[in-house]
Amino acid sequence: MKTTEIIKNFQTYFEEFQKADHPEPTAMSLATSTKSGRPSSRIVLLKSFDERGFVFYTNFTSRKAQQLEENPFAALTFFWNETSRQVRIEGAVEKVSDEEADAYFASRARKSQIGAWASKQSSEIEHSLDFEKRIAKYTLKFGLSKIPRPEFWGGFRLKPDLVEFWVKKDFRLHERTVHTLLSGNEWATKKIYP
Ligand SMILES: Cc1cc2nc3c(=O)[nH]c(=O)nc-3n(C[C@H](O)[C@H](O)[C@H](O)COP(=O)(O)O)c2cc1C
Repeated sequence: MKTTEIIKNFQTYFEEFQKADHPEPTAMSLATSTKSGRPSSRIVLLKSFDERGFVFYTNFTSRKAQQLEENPFAALTFFWNETSRQVRIEGAVEKVSDEEADAYFASRARKSQIGAWASKQSSEIEHSLDFEKRIAKYTLKFGLSKIPRPEFWGGFRLKPDLVEFWVKKDFRLHERTVHTLLSGNEWATKKIYP
């Protein structure tokens, strides 16, 4: 199989789920791990995908970003209950280009842009009003001017080398199809027991 076919499959299932009435239709679990192999996971939002990979945005000083610095491999899981599917994706992660991150940052709501500047994601809030103070600080600082993307905030792209589609079937006789990257654009496909 070719990468384009796998991404097309993902797109079909993704679009099907986007029509379901779900409050966070692009949510996915992102698992990372430390250099020594201790895992952690959290929900992030999928912002784009194509043959190059799956993109999410975050703070580069966050715990997840620190882990990706130490160990640039990650795993994504989508649970699409309303359409009875799960998709698991694994692979290496790299930062998206500054241009791509700038374009996405510019598309965000102004308050989200201020939030990106104000949040020291994953660091301790030392005094109870520190976060509110930082929000006020950056709101004042930028006034009505265009808000640039902070250097400590941007996107990561996970380039898949394993994609598993899981389809729910009656009596837990689920169907699992695993695609593993061989090289370049070529993937091996197999069915595995549920
Ligand atoms: C529905 C939902 C969507 C989220 N989307 C993002 C996101 O796109 N990027 C992000 O950095 N955090 C997002 N978060 C917050 C993360 O789950 C997490 O709390 C945060 O990124 C810090 O994780 P870390 O300390 O492991 O780095 C989201 C949380 C939820 C519940």
